[in-house]
Amino acid sequence: MNYALLPLRIFSDERGKLGVLESYKDMPFAMKRMYYIFDTSPSFDRGGHAHRELEQIVLCLCGSCEFVLDNGSLRESVKLNSPEVGLYIGKNMWREMKNFSYDCRLVVLASDYYDEREYIRDYAEFIEFIKEIKCKE
Ligand code: TYD
Repeated sequence: MNYALLPLRIFSDERGKLGVLESYKDMPFAMKRMYYIFDTSPSFDRGGHAHRELEQIVLCLCGSCEFVLDNGSLRESVKLNSPEVGLYIGKNMWREMKNFSYDCRLVVLASDYYDEREYIRDYAEFIEFIKEIKCKE
């Protein structure tokens, strides 16, 4: 499975906590884009797509949500509920996001600019894409 839960570099003292992510030191890619998700609801899911090349790290700064990660053969679920852990998602991973708390705040660091052509938004197409990759290996 091309994902990992990364313990983040946190500086903690009596004033509070400060987390740091530096390209190629704390994360395996250089960030070109950041986006964030807020005003969520448990009634609505997000995601439902894969990326051909994009890598991402998801930080859950507040609240909680669940990521379902699928590599075409295996499907695993990860609960995010701590700003001290980052979820790295590599390329070619189908992801669904659900069970958002109302106060969930996600920050996503991405390895490239937004490009809709880079998305696979149909699960059957994703499975075909994975088969093609495996044939080429
Ligand atoms: P969408 O892919 O549906 O979000 P999620 O992955 O959470 O399901 O994106 C919602 C809208 O935002 C869609 O119209 C595309 C747009 N968008 C951008 O323009 N730039 C971005 O970097 C992202 C992530 C989304």
